[in-house]
Amino acid sequence: MRTIAIVNQKGGCGKTTTTVNLAGCLAVSGARVLVVDMDPQAHSTLALGFDPEAIDENLYEVLCDPAGSDMVTPIEEILLTWSSNLQIAPSGIVLSALEQKLATDRASDRNERLAVALESVADRFDYAIIDCPPNVGVLTFNALRAAREVIVPLETSDFAIHGVQKLLETIALLSDRIGHDLTVRILPTLYDGRTRYARETLGEIRTRFGDLCFDSVIRSNIKLREAARRGRPLVTFAKNANGAQDYSALAIELALTPEPGSVELGFDDFVPAGPAREVVVQFRDLGATDVRIAGDFNGWVPDKDVQSLVQAESGDRVWTKILSLAPGTYHYRYVVDGEWREDPINPRSAPGPVGGRNSVLVVR
Ligand SMILES: Nc1ncnc2c1ncn2[C@@H]1O[C@H](COP(=O)(O)OP(=O)(O)OP(=O)(O)O)[C@@H](O)[C@H]1O
Ligand SMILES: [Mg+2]
Repeated sequence: MRTIAIVNQKGGCGKTTTTVNLAGCLAVSGARVLVVDMDPQAHSTLALGFDPEAIDENLYEVLCDPAGSDMVTPIEEILLTWSSNLQIAPSGIVLSALEQKLATDRASDRNERLAVALESVADRFDYAIIDCPPNVGVLTFNALRAAREVIVPLETSDFAIHGVQKLLETIALLSDRIGHDLTVRILPTLYDGRTRYARETLGEIRTRFGDLCFDSVIRSNIKLREAARRGRPLVTFAKNANGAQDYSALAIELALTPEPGSVELGFDDFVPAGPAREVVVQFRDLGATDVRIAGDFNGWVPDKDVQSLVQAESGDRVWTKILSLAPGTYHYRYVVDGEWREDPINPRSAPGPVGGRNSVLVVR
């Protein structure tokens, strides 16, 4: 199964439209396709005609308990069928509760739950296309962990170079830490060739990203909106519409690109030696300007041996810290603008040797 995450922290750039219409085109061409809706907004679920509120079980039930636990609902039990070779693992608003639950969960498998769930159905599908929410939180981490390929839809009417650069850095960093390669490709969307601005922007995107960019471009096409409202991929009712043709071209381009990692190197070749694993922690604070992490894992030297990135997200600033830790118990604090603080979202803490409390992290 070829697993592709559709990722961009920017809202409204065409992630859901790409997920559903690419899936539809692949399915029409005979591939067995699974859509995985990791967005609490459940737009992919809706765009395939299912009412999230009328669905009893969704990805929440599959992902909320640690992998391997008796409580886990197998993913095949929640799949809904759109056609004989197009199915969806639906979402619902409860996924936002899952996002919060996992964000504070110290379980070391919290970023791996989707990967584990998808493994169990890998024989039944040729493609899994994962729609992600417009942020790079734990749900998106799960998608990146499960995927080998990433498509970043990029709006040609509103091209923000800085945001894309940041996103590519984040993905590269995660890919490094996760221990497997992620192949990232950029898909220009919402293209209106009648405007000079859009033509210039597309040129700029191609110059800047070169081969990272698909040859296919998705034009602005009102029919794609209509398709979402009707709960159907556009290709299934208007295959000559621009939107259907563009996504069909993308499906062909994708199918012609060999699956990354499928040739010589297996997954095991990418797993770093030794028992260390990456652990991701996040700190949110709109007011802070400098946040570092220090603990017994880095000799209490702020940010030593830590990969760090900052992003603006839903009115907050979010610091993501990626630590490489062997199984064990660790004590740490954040250093927020020079002030040593406990982790506000970690309920586990212990008295520090020089007063105050340290947060405690257990890596299993
Ligand atoms: N090529 C297109 N032509 C016309 N309308 C489009 C196109 N692509 C997307 N849209 C419309 O733009 C809006 C945003 O698209 P979409 O929902 O796919 O973005 P998104 O990245 O998934 O958004 P979010 O970040 O909120 O999940 C939708 O109303 C969709 O129907
Ligand atoms: Mg969406």
